[in-house]
Amino acid sequence: MKKIAVLTSGGDAPGMNACIRAVVRYAIYCGYKVYGVERGYSGLINDDIFQMYPRSVSDIVQKGGTILHTARCPEFKEYENRVKAAENLQKRDIDNLVVIGGDGSFAGGLDLHKEFGINIAGLPGTIDNDLGYTDFTIGFDSAVNTVLWAINHLRDTTTAHERVSIVKVMGRNCGDIALYAGLAGGCEYVLVPEIPADFRDVAESVKLSTKRGKTSNMIVFAEGAGDETELIKVIKEVTGRTPTVTTLGHIQRGGGPSMFDRVLAARMSVHAVDILRGGEGAWAIGVKQDNIIHVPLEEALKIKKQVNHELYKMTRTLSL
Ligand code: ADP
Ligand code: F6P
Repeated sequence: MKKIAVLTSGGDAPGMNACIRAVVRYAIYCGYKVYGVERGYSGLINDDIFQMYPRSVSDIVQKGGTILHTARCPEFKEYENRVKAAENLQKRDIDNLVVIGGDGSFAGGLDLHKEFGINIAGLPGTIDNDLGYTDFTIGFDSAVNTVLWAINHLRDTTTAHERVSIVKVMGRNCGDIALYAGLAGGCEYVLVPEIPADFRDVAESVKLSTKRGKTSNMIVFAEGAGDETELIKVIKEVTGRTPTVTTLGHIQRGGGPSMFDRVLAARMSVHAVDILRGGEGAWAIGVKQDNIIHVPLEEALKIKKQVNHELYKMTRTLSL
């Protein structure tokens, strides 16, 4: 009987459970015996591998986190640990693996393919939207909606007190969470790692906006965009006002997936199983202009994510 395993790795993202559900059920529908791996690559090394059935994934499509748990497993970067991982798959005759995670998890999957011939389908599960080969990753939309919820709440109190408010968001080296949430939330300034901003210009724009009649300002600050304490200092110097800072942290990774992420998870997961059914290889599954695509994993990892300059420009012009 054909066999397939599934794992979640790296930072969790809303929609990982929706992926697990779709992979398990569609693969069983296609005649596969399906296995779940606990805690990403740690579970492969430690042999935490178990069979899954349609009822193993009941009542999870709406839940955040991942029922398989996830982990960061630096040991997997060492060849001898990957040998253990491959042996644990091979002793069960499992030659197909669905990896749900970000670029680090994909790099691990590529190693398993190149070194041991395991067929890989990578599903982009990360809130960061930092993979260049796909328009969207699974979890990004949900995380941005969580950030938007927080921005709406902060705006109430920021407006009431006529303050300058800085909201710090996740995204590692990618500014998409800040960019999309900042535009959708009508924020005055968005700071992203890809487009360096002069903090003095930001402070001057706060000052100018006061002259134009704005009594409060919301600034979204991506985690890779520098040191927010420096920005606070400059804003104090230039405007005489002391900004408040709210760091949203891991709250952004939790909560149930949005409709967009659930549908994306279902479409990409079905495509992943179909690609593995089609033959040998290592693939990254993605979405481009609403079409589900697959790209050789090695190529996908080389494609650099580009920031959307048009959206960034809009955040500036619309904050007049
Ligand atoms: P993400 O997948 O969200 O980018 P990480 O970068 O933390 O998260 O990677 C997740 C896991 O993938 C790592 O803990 C490690 O087990 C594995 N991994 C990352 N980079 C490599 C690599 N270059 N080679 C092998 N495995 C890797
Ligand atoms: O990759 C997802 C992410 O949440 C990033 O946005 C953030 O930089 C990182 O993971 C935080 O990792 P940890 O959960 O280990 O603090």
